[in-house]
Amino acid sequence: MLTDTLNIAVTKTEESRLATTDFDNLPFGRTFSDHMFIADYEGGEWKNFQIVPYGEIGLSPAISALHYGQAFFEGIKAYKHADGRIAIFRPEKNAERSNASAERLCMPQIPVEMYLQALSAIVEIDKDWVPSKEGHSLYIRPFMFATDPYLGVTPSETYKFIILTGPVGPYFSKNLKVKIETSFSRASDGGFGFAKAAGNYGGSMLPARRATEEGFDQLIWTDSREHAYIEELGAANIMFMIDGKVITPSTRDTILKGVTRDTVLTLAKSWGIEVEERRVSVAEILSAIKEGRITDAFGAGTAATIAHIAEIGHEGEVYTLPDPAKREFSNRVLQTLNAIRYGRAADEFNWNY
Ligand code: COI
Repeated sequence: MLTDTLNIAVTKTEESRLATTDFDNLPFGRTFSDHMFIADYEGGEWKNFQIVPYGEIGLSPAISALHYGQAFFEGIKAYKHADGRIAIFRPEKNAERSNASAERLCMPQIPVEMYLQALSAIVEIDKDWVPSKEGHSLYIRPFMFATDPYLGVTPSETYKFIILTGPVGPYFSKNLKVKIETSFSRASDGGFGFAKAAGNYGGSMLPARRATEEGFDQLIWTDSREHAYIEELGAANIMFMIDGKVITPSTRDTILKGVTRDTVLTLAKSWGIEVEERRVSVAEILSAIKEGRITDAFGAGTAATIAHIAEIGHEGEVYTLPDPAKREFSNRVLQTLNAIRYGRAADEFNWNY
């Protein structure tokens, strides 16, 4: 049990936007709850813990986050159980990954206890914003950025850590037609693809736009050397079921250590399904499709949860995968995950916080 040692100064909104929010129409990332959490890093420590009404913050146009991208974020979800209790899904994992991102970007660590207390406080104050509808949740967006108003290329000495929240529905509204990317890359060896650095997402937008111009919904990233190995799907990890085994690229410096990824692999292993985390070649995937050995293919991420891949394009050919509605593994994962997240099933792995 946490004790509130942060002494958070709370300023509540004078006018809640809750009553005017349409909970039946929640496109991802456009609706924000009434409040946000803010902390400042100065003089080598975190201080000024506050919860304030969601809104604009004043910043110098010279802050180094804007110029040199010293910034990272996380994505977490909270769910409402039938008895009204609210559970945040595996936030310790995100706290851990934030610190891995911070280390790589030369930014300060956030003590896990501080992270969890801040999350609890902001979710508690806006608990009425957590939707109860199946497939809906409160998306939590913690992020940190450098605030020194200084144009020298050195690590900032001051930072802000902010947590926004907002109710969301499903991220993707349909099964995906994706393209295996063979010229752009998302991350390279020795780079920071494993971190949730803001710049990783900035750099993905042009390739993603090109893919949509070619009629695809998303792209599958491949390695930057040969474009011969599968890495990720858009902003999510990628998984296949081939010959009855779950196969996914192993985590390395180009691949995000996804919390949903870990969740899916843990479930698969607990069901006695063989899991292979290793390099996955494009050639192997294409031949498994042609030989009818692929029974499942999907993206796994916090925002996306499980995003079924219906079609895969590669060098002008488009391959159709088995009907997503009939896929045994990913649909079982989704059902089990929902049962745990909405509190209908026993939380045997202790994932609900
Ligand atoms: C998440 O799944 O939370 C992500 O980080 C994806 C996001 C860029 C929409």
